[in-house]
Amino acid sequence: MKFNRAGLPGWTYHNEELFELEASNIFKKNWQLVCHQSDLPNKGDYVTYDILGERAILLRGVDHKVRAFHNLCRHRGSRLVVGDKGNCGKMITCPFHAWSYSLNGQLRGPAKPQSFPPLNRNEWGLKPIELDEFMGFYFVKFKSSNYPKASEILKRHKETFDQYQTKKLMSAGEISLSNCLSINWKTVRDVDNEGYHVAQAHPGLHDLYGENYRDEEYNFWSTVSVGKINSKPSKLWTVRNYRSILEKLEKPWCDLPKQWYYIGIFPNAVFGFYPDSVIFYQEVPVKCNETLIRSAVYKRPKESRHLKILRYLSGRIDNSAVEEDNQLSEWLNEAPKSSGYEGSFLSDLEKGVRDYHDALREMLPVIDLDEPPISGKMSQVNAKLLAREN
Ligand code: FES
Ligand SMILES: [Fe+2]
Repeated sequence: MKFNRAGLPGWTYHNEELFELEASNIFKKNWQLVCHQSDLPNKGDYVTYDILGERAILLRGVDHKVRAFHNLCRHRGSRLVVGDKGNCGKMITCPFHAWSYSLNGQLRGPAKPQSFPPLNRNEWGLKPIELDEFMGFYFVKFKSSNYPKASEILKRHKETFDQYQTKKLMSAGEISLSNCLSINWKTVRDVDNEGYHVAQAHPGLHDLYGENYRDEEYNFWSTVSVGKINSKPSKLWTVRNYRSILEKLEKPWCDLPKQWYYIGIFPNAVFGFYPDSVIFYQEVPVKCNETLIRSAVYKRPKESRHLKILRYLSGRIDNSAVEEDNQLSEWLNEAPKSSGYEGSFLSDLEKGVRDYHDALREMLPVIDLDEPPISGKMSQVNAKLLAREN
């Protein structure tokens, strides 16, 4: 296999100006996974999603339709709803001065309307955000761009979503947010985009699918990795029990492949398709060196006892892997600060890391420079490089 084995230059993990560019050109112009339809089953239910100063509400209306708005009061900008999810009843009432909005986003009225000139309800309604849906999962995009919609990107995986009956999934609890990790978001991707580390760093995953893990040929917008469950005996009790209960699973779930199947969607979300559940996780950048991991688990409707135990066990195996990855990310993130650091030298099994970097290079060519541009020129230099390429 021939490819350039170098990683991104070390400065790209610690540069505030580049982070600003990544925020606006990568995160806000691409689709962000927010939740599953079962996170907001009833009218008035909402889910929030905050990223890089943007705050979205997904809200289920009286007509049962889900709409996306900025979580921003039109009066003076207060947050309208709080928490990751909840129900706002028949309308949203701003906690600041009690302007109220219908579930379709229309302004119902300001408090003390006589203190304002007449306000048009539509013009003063909540500001919509671009929304997309695929097989029960909702995505938002904060800035317009020509990049493909999430549903277009994921179309090639429809068979998998169908096979795991994602439209019928049920939320298994909260959408969880990790503590803030002191790392740049790209380090999370760098760890997650290869399976070379599984054998050494993830005893649980290695015991579960060990040598059978493989990444499929890279695709710019979505990636696939598969871990076929081992046939040799397991050492860990969690994996041993997981495997033995998997054998007892009832129809139709026993017909699913005995594997953990991952689909990644650019730039920051991964779905996991397990025999017992479907999960997602995504890194949410906060600052250049601060990142949160947001994740959720979805269960089958009418979950059997076996499924429930399996989901508990897969959660245990996953939680350990997340902690292990977080530690690796921290070490990786610190590395460029060391005077001994000379960059990465990637294995054939880490080609996914390189491919992802190439995708970033295409969107932000400035990322490929050995040294950062002089202060204040990041955006300008990037625009110049982009113009040269096109
Ligand atoms: S900011 Fe919402 S009512 Fe004043
Ligand atoms: Fe990992």
